[in-house]
Amino acid sequence: MPVHLVEHPLVHDALAILRDASTPPEIFRRMAVRISLLLAAEATRDLPAGNVTVETPLGPASGRRVDGDVVVVPVLRAGLGMLDAVLELIPSARVGHIGLQRDEMTAIASKYYSKLPSSLGGSIVLMIDPMLATGGSAVAALDMLRDAGAHEVRMICIVSAPDGIALVEQHHPDVHIYTPVIDRGLNDHKFIVPGLGDFGDRLYGTH
Ligand code: URA
Repeated sequence: MPVHLVEHPLVHDALAILRDASTPPEIFRRMAVRISLLLAAEATRDLPAGNVTVETPLGPASGRRVDGDVVVVPVLRAGLGMLDAVLELIPSARVGHIGLQRDEMTAIASKYYSKLPSSLGGSIVLMIDPMLATGGSAVAALDMLRDAGAHEVRMICIVSAPDGIALVEQHHPDVHIYTPVIDRGLNDHKFIVPGLGDFGDRLYGTH
């Protein structure tokens, strides 16, 4: 399975701030936006674009405009912290939502919400879920996207664990994963170690 390890120094700068337990929610949100912009740029390097000619104040200039259909799907709730960044880059993107709740004891994901745009077959689908831990919720969300007709799906994650990568590879070997880092592993509560804690709680100040 193609895993794209994004090495850009600005990505890793933002990641270090996100990991720091003393980073308050307002800075955490800003860094989540910054890193998501950079990761989304990487995940859309090959976006289809058509040739155009525009008039500069000095005359015609040829250029390229993006013309592929992109659908962004945040996995609720943590994925919402990445959505505005992706829409900033691709304002024409359609947006779907998948709500998955992780049982605190078993870490098993169950669906509580799903609203996806129609006709995903010809779209590039960017699934955004910051923490790829066990891979259980990622696989559940990818199954839903496949069932809805998506063919070309890319995942953008801020921190990944080997277990999550392996589970996605097993169930969805054609999905490309864009992530800056694959951490050591998971603790007994299925949190990524060293990770950054509970992304949703740190984003919204709910812990
Ligand atoms: N979800 C999180 O927010 N953090 C983890 O470490 C794992 C899953």
